[in-house]
Amino acid sequence: MVAAVRVHRYGGPEVLTYEDIEVPPPGSGQVRLRQHAAGINFIDTYFRMGAYPSPVGLPFVAGNEGSGEVIAVGEGVTDLKVGDRVGYVVGLGAYAAERNLPAERAVKLPDAISYEQAAATMLKGMTVCYLLRRTFDVKPGTTVLIHAAAGGVGLIACQWANALGATVIGTVGSKEKADLARANGCHHTILYREEDFVARVKDITKGALCDVVYDGVGKTTFPASLDCLHPLGMFVSFGSASGPIDAFNINLLQAKGSLFATRPTLNNYAAKRGDLLKLAAETFEVVASGKVKIPVNQKYPLKDAQKAHQDLESRATTGASILLP
Ligand SMILES: NC(=O)c1ccc[n+]([C@@H]2O[C@H](COP(=O)([O-])OP(=O)(O)OC[C@H]3O[C@@H](n4cnc5c(N)ncnc54)[C@H](OP(=O)(O)O)[C@@H]3O)[C@@H](O)[C@H]2O)c1
Repeated sequence: MVAAVRVHRYGGPEVLTYEDIEVPPPGSGQVRLRQHAAGINFIDTYFRMGAYPSPVGLPFVAGNEGSGEVIAVGEGVTDLKVGDRVGYVVGLGAYAAERNLPAERAVKLPDAISYEQAAATMLKGMTVCYLLRRTFDVKPGTTVLIHAAAGGVGLIACQWANALGATVIGTVGSKEKADLARANGCHHTILYREEDFVARVKDITKGALCDVVYDGVGKTTFPASLDCLHPLGMFVSFGSASGPIDAFNINLLQAKGSLFATRPTLNNYAAKRGDLLKLAAETFEVVASGKVKIPVNQKYPLKDAQKAHQDLESRATTGASILLP
């Protein structure tokens, strides 16, 4: 039996149940991991609430990102062996002391990446990689707006966009978060709970507006985010921490200046193993170089997953959070 956090019915943080579960030996193509850390992500709350239905039904082990040591390999696995250090992002199963994982989704960790860093890098770091390097090509001269700039994805995105030479504008929920975002490469911060962020973006950019807006907040920042873009700018809606964006008429994009809009997810950008490995290598490299630090600002024992979700949803966290089995 191993310790795990399961969801037996959809609901609030209280449905996260810490209990012992049976984990069978790894099947064909799988490896068994002794987990060292599991990432906590906003997407975990969407699965917990049933906003994203569990592909394995109920009950399910929560969590989508983690790292650990291979302790057994199933039939047909040739490129991993007992003792290898790996990280992964995969649908569900991460909040557990041990788990089985499809070997083709495991990525070997370089020595420079600790288990704790990996548990915040595989999902959040690789997301920033594809957002800044694939969805839109951020480079010197680019002006970006990043909503929730002091969050898990946000702090990594600020550092990375800064390292790429962009002018980085970030929205944040408090003065403390503004200080933190600035310390992580954000050039201009906006307190979007008090200030009109469109007016501030116009002011900061002297009317030129942004090339790209990265919006993981959703309901409360839409459609105002579109007004932060110059004509032909790119709106990247990659999450909905405040709730999903309502359906809208596509002619709005014409009215706001022939804008582009996309709603990307890491699943598609990392669907092929080759793409997964390239994203991971690029992300590990920027972390190992010191250009981007993975800010693991909250650590909880596995049994405190409820508290971890409460903190995340009440906007009490900064940077990344992890669970330690
Ligand atoms: N599409 C993808 O591939 C992908 C991958 C990873 C993450 N995501 C998305 O990226 C976003 C950030 O994820 P994360 O795990 O790093 O979370 P996070 O940014 O650490 O936490 C969410 C932040 O959103 C802000 N927020 C604004 N309104 C909120 C509300 N009503 N309730 C709660 N928070 C609110 C808060 O920051 P302030 O207090 O500063 O407002 C909060 O700290 C999420 O939307 C997530 O789904 C998408």
